[in-house]
Amino acid sequence: MQIRTTPNPNPVSDERLAEVLADPGFGNHFTDHMLTVEWTPEAGWHDARIEPYGPISLDPATAVLHYAQETFEGMKAYRHADGSIWTFRPEANAERMARSSERLALPVLEVPDFLQAVEELVRIDQRWVPDTTAPDAGEKSLYLRPFMFASEKFLGVRPSQHVTFMVIASPAGSYFKGGLKPVSLWLTEDYTRAGRGGMGAAKTGGNYASSLVAQQQATANGCDQVVFLDAQEGKYVEELGGMNMYFVYADGRIVTPATGTILEGITRSSIIDLAQQMGHKVEERRFGIEEWREGVASGEIVEIFACGTAAVVTPVGSLKWDGGEVPCVHESGEVTMAIRSALVDIQYGRAEDTFGWMRRIV
Ligand code: PLP
Ligand code: COI
Repeated sequence: MQIRTTPNPNPVSDERLAEVLADPGFGNHFTDHMLTVEWTPEAGWHDARIEPYGPISLDPATAVLHYAQETFEGMKAYRHADGSIWTFRPEANAERMARSSERLALPVLEVPDFLQAVEELVRIDQRWVPDTTAPDAGEKSLYLRPFMFASEKFLGVRPSQHVTFMVIASPAGSYFKGGLKPVSLWLTEDYTRAGRGGMGAAKTGGNYASSLVAQQQATANGCDQVVFLDAQEGKYVEELGGMNMYFVYADGRIVTPATGTILEGITRSSIIDLAQQMGHKVEERRFGIEEWREGVASGEIVEIFACGTAAVVTPVGSLKWDGGEVPCVHESGEVTMAIRSALVDIQYGRAEDTFGWMRRIV
């Protein structure tokens, strides 16, 4: 793919950048550049360019604004102690975006083009990848957001004949405001996230739009995040609005829900490998909400955690629903913290990457 570059004539000053990187939060600040590629059935992917970051102009009839035909990805670039910059399993993000795009009737951007797009943007904006070697630097990274949307001006309901792929980047600290403390969960019995044949396994904006009202209920009930159950029977745990779930048993077993309607997290899949390497038996299966209640009550479940690119590995606190509550089992369990360290040590280059997950950009 040929990428044309127009450097930003007014990049953010070094002083302002240092301020931003000192406390980036999540999703607040954006780098100096953005990458765009266009697609039409006749020309395929074309007109790839890196330009100064800024607003884009869309016709009010642009299809994505009406029918939500779009997909996105979430990944991070990490700076290692020697200054080099790496991504974690970016091929898996590229492949998942291809699957999401197929589900949304969008064109597929081939894996090498996806990787090139992400890497060229990181290269030009490399000063935005936070340094994490200072003792109090914390776990910072440059969050990368590739996305693809129906950019045709047309109100008929059919797959868009003009599609735009973009990559933007945003320096990130902790996803949750309080840092690493357990997230409390609200079990929604009113809303589901995904049904059989739906788009639960795709990373597409509509899934997040549909989660918001349930998230509002969670917040109104004093909880941080919402847990969704399966749509058919309302019995099986699926995932949170933006994270997968894990349950750790006293006998060392680890269970993660698998239903066909969850987003198959790259963190989730990496934890399966890491936990097995650490000697845990990992079960991917349906996990009933009753198992949660009973397992905590009996002491069989000793730790619960959630995971995702943005949230990394985060201990789960209490689970509340209309009329009941399961208390927090462990604020920062040993297994949770060991898995978390094993993962972030690979991502930040502090542990050997025996799985070959890291890909160097700079
Ligand atoms: N589930 C949902 C709904 C998500 O949005 C995410 C975040 O990407 C995940 C799970 C975790 O996926 P990953 O580990 O690939 O970030
Ligand atoms: C991620 O972890 O990358 C996500 O996409 C979760 C959320 C920010 C949407």
